[in-house]
Amino acid sequence: MARLLPHRLSQLTLYSLLLCLLLPNSLARKNGGFARTLSPKDLGLNNQKLSKFRLYWHDIVSGRNPTSVRVVTPPMNTSTSFGLVRMFDDPLTEGPELSSKLIGRAQGFYASASQEEYGLLMAMNFAIMEGKYNGSTITVFGRNTVFSKVREMPVIGGTGLFRFARGYVRARTHFIDLKTRNAIVLYTCYVLHY
Ligand SMILES: *[C@@H]1O[C@H](CO)[C@@H](O)[C@H](O)[C@H]1NC(C)=O
Ligand SMILES: *[C@@H]1O[C@H](CO)[C@@H](O)[C@H](O)[C@H]1NC(C)=O
Repeated sequence: MARLLPHRLSQLTLYSLLLCLLLPNSLARKNGGFARTLSPKDLGLNNQKLSKFRLYWHDIVSGRNPTSVRVVTPPMNTSTSFGLVRMFDDPLTEGPELSSKLIGRAQGFYASASQEEYGLLMAMNFAIMEGKYNGSTITVFGRNTVFSKVREMPVIGGTGLFRFARGYVRARTHFIDLKTRNAIVLYTCYVLHY
C-alpha cells in the first residue's frame, strides 16, 4: 500500500496535467469545430435590396403538351376537388402571351387543401433564367384561393442572388379557360434579398 501510494499520486498528477493541457483544446474544438459565428459582412451581406418582378405564369393542363399534370386523384368527389395534387413545370414569361420572352420556369406542385372553397396549397420554385438572375431561384409557399381577385403568398427563401430572400407575391388571374382549365396568372413579386 505504502509503496503504491506515491505511484498512484504521480499517476494522478500526470492525468490532471494531461487534462489541463487537453481541456482548453477540446473546449475550443467543441465551440469551433462545426459551428462558428460569422458577421454578415463575412458573406458580403451588406446592402439589403427590395426587388419587384412581374411574371406571367402559364398553367397548361390540357392539349398535347401540358405543363401541369395530375399526380394524385382525389379519393372522393367533392366540389373543391379536395385531395387533388398536380405537378407543374410552368413557363414564366415577361408578357401575358406564351410567345413573349421566357424569364424562367415555375416548378412545383399545388394541392387542393380546402373542403369549403377552392383553395390550393402552392409549393414552387421560380427558376429564373434571364440576365444576371439566371440560375437563381425564389421559393414560394402559401395558400392560393384561386377564385379570389388577388391572392398573397409568402416568399420563404431563395438561392443565388436570392439567398436569404423573404417577401411575398401577389397573384392575379389574367385569363382562365373554364373549359380547358388552362390559366395565365400575373405574379407580382416583392423580394428582400442581398
Ligand atoms: C366522380 O364523379 C364522376 C362523374 O361526375 C364519376 O365518373 C366518378 O366515377 C366519380 N368518382 C367517384 C370516386 O365517386
Ligand atoms: C443561363 O445559364 C445557362 C447555364 O449556365 C446557359 O446555358 C444559358 O444560356 C443562360 N441563359 C441566358 C438567357 O443567359
